[in-house]
Amino acid sequence: MDIRVLKTKADIAKACGEIFIEEINKKSDIVLGLATGATPLPTYEYLIDAYKNGRVSFKEVTSFNLDEYCDLARENENSYYSYMLNNFFNHVDMDKSRINIPDGNAKDAEKECAAYDKMIEDMGGIDIQLLGIGTNGHIGFNEPSDEFTDATFKVKLSDSTIESNSIYFPDGDMPRYALTMGIGSIMKAKKIILIATGAAKIDAVDKMVNGEVSPACPASILQNHDDVIIFLDEDAAAKINK
Ligand code: GLP
Repeated sequence: MDIRVLKTKADIAKACGEIFIEEINKKSDIVLGLATGATPLPTYEYLIDAYKNGRVSFKEVTSFNLDEYCDLARENENSYYSYMLNNFFNHVDMDKSRINIPDGNAKDAEKECAAYDKMIEDMGGIDIQLLGIGTNGHIGFNEPSDEFTDATFKVKLSDSTIESNSIYFPDGDMPRYALTMGIGSIMKAKKIILIATGAAKIDAVDKMVNGEVSPACPASILQNHDDVIIFLDEDAAAKINK
């Protein structure tokens, strides 16, 4: 693991954004795996600025998002579909036909998940996968469990995830299920960049980096990937830096 501890969220956004810009400028039809949550927002802002300054174009880029809530209208401001449009896609020159996000409202979730994996495979796999990490060590929505998941699947969200994410659903309508790429899908990405910021991630980061590789901390599997960069701010790195 290539662990890089930087001072501020802005420093991380710049360092991470520059990797994306360099890779996209090398391969204009790159396939990106994208993440939601609060953590990647500064990186998306950095990329939007770079696009506006003519440093990068997303015209030929294909994207696959990690996950989406089930039983939540796409138009709901808390769907990951809305998040991606509002925080990134609407501000750059992405071709909307190349944007892929699992359909959490699909009637047949199993079929939707299998079709999603097939689309990723048909595109030649993900070149760079961006990840955040949950306070319980989840990546995507792969919750701590007894075994590592494989391909895209429908997951029941854990109590800790519901607790962390319910701030976005003040009316109490927090979805209980989601579709998520599995650990196997994530590990197939050629390059992985994970960002963790803030003190709430201290324990998850410590287990991911120093703990045994175990489905009890899904992110620990990244120790087995041979091209992974972990960007941390000083708060999130507090335990591993000791
Ligand atoms: C969410 C998402 C993850 C994200 C994580 C952390 O539930 N499914 O993809 O990385 O939790 O979110 P945040 O960045 O808001 O802390």
